[in-house]
Amino acid sequence: MLKKVCREVTVEKMLPFGQSARVGEFFELRFENPGWSGWRPGQFVMIRPSDWDQSLIWGRPFSISRVSEAENTVSVFFQSVGRGTGRMAQLAPGDKVTVWGPLGNSFAMEPDTPTLLLAGGVGIAPFVGYAEQHPHPEKLELVFAHRLPRECYPYEDFAACTHSCLEEHSPDDLPRIIDTLQHKVREYRDGLILCCGPTPFMRTVQTAALKVGARAQVSLENRMACGVGACLGCVCKDGKGHHVQTCTRGPVFWAQDVTL
Ligand SMILES: Cc1cc2nc3c(=O)[nH]c(=O)nc-3n(C[C@H](O)[C@H](O)[C@H](O)COP(=O)(O)OP(=O)(O)OC[C@H]3O[C@@H](n4cnc5c(N)ncnc54)[C@H](O)[C@@H]3O)c2cc1C
Ligand code: FES
Repeated sequence: MLKKVCREVTVEKMLPFGQSARVGEFFELRFENPGWSGWRPGQFVMIRPSDWDQSLIWGRPFSISRVSEAENTVSVFFQSVGRGTGRMAQLAPGDKVTVWGPLGNSFAMEPDTPTLLLAGGVGIAPFVGYAEQHPHPEKLELVFAHRLPRECYPYEDFAACTHSCLEEHSPDDLPRIIDTLQHKVREYRDGLILCCGPTPFMRTVQTAALKVGARAQVSLENRMACGVGACLGCVCKDGKGHHVQTCTRGPVFWAQDVTL
């Protein structure tokens, strides 16, 4: 069991991502490693900038993208979607953030099994570290569905894997994307399938995987508050309809063990 650490650390870098019209929406945040002894891809970290006041009480959860031993930093990749992430987008090197982690469980990693990574939008974030930690990246295939130009995401980090994009320009593209996802799931029915993205995207993958009996995991991005199982703010339903905490029982679930 990896030891969880809660500590105030220093922001090392804030890097805006991409050159699109929506620049200012995607960021890579790097902060000082709080002293983690290790981490596994799929785990997440809660982040709360130290200057947040009582109107922003809770930290926000983010997938851990990368831990650099050379720089002694932890990286997360985030999209500015609301009050908390909007404020985080204003962080600058030298600012302080309180972080706690690494939290939650992780994706299965089977070095010799052909593994399909299905990412939707910012759901690509946990797979950056997954591809880096995998002993045989040539066994990995990333299929990445996205709305904004791919320069807005850390897509270039998957050069060592087979990789392809499904760009959604309008709702008319959805049938083609769903078709491709279903086809890919069938292709990997004897392999391992890992998925992270918006709920409808994961539901498509879950349904397709259950239909053909493929082994698939999905990573939930529910709202969270405490991140450690105490507040019940993140509950989801398991495969039997029982309420379980996403932060401690997940965020990664086998497709048959969660109701999306
Ligand atoms: C385990 C986990 C890993 C995550 N990893 C990443 C990541 O790597 N990168 C990233 O950008 N985001 C990630 N998220 C989502 C991220 O935590 C939320 O986007 C963030 O908490 C929103 O905070 P906010 O204050 O900016 O938004 P708020 O002001 O609270 O909400 C803004 C809008 O976003 C919606 N919203 C808020 N939280 C969520 C959510 N979790 N899911 C869907 N809609 C939501 C709200 O309903 C509202 O419409 C992850 C979430 C979890 C649980
Ligand atoms: S976020 Fe508090 S119980 Fe999961």
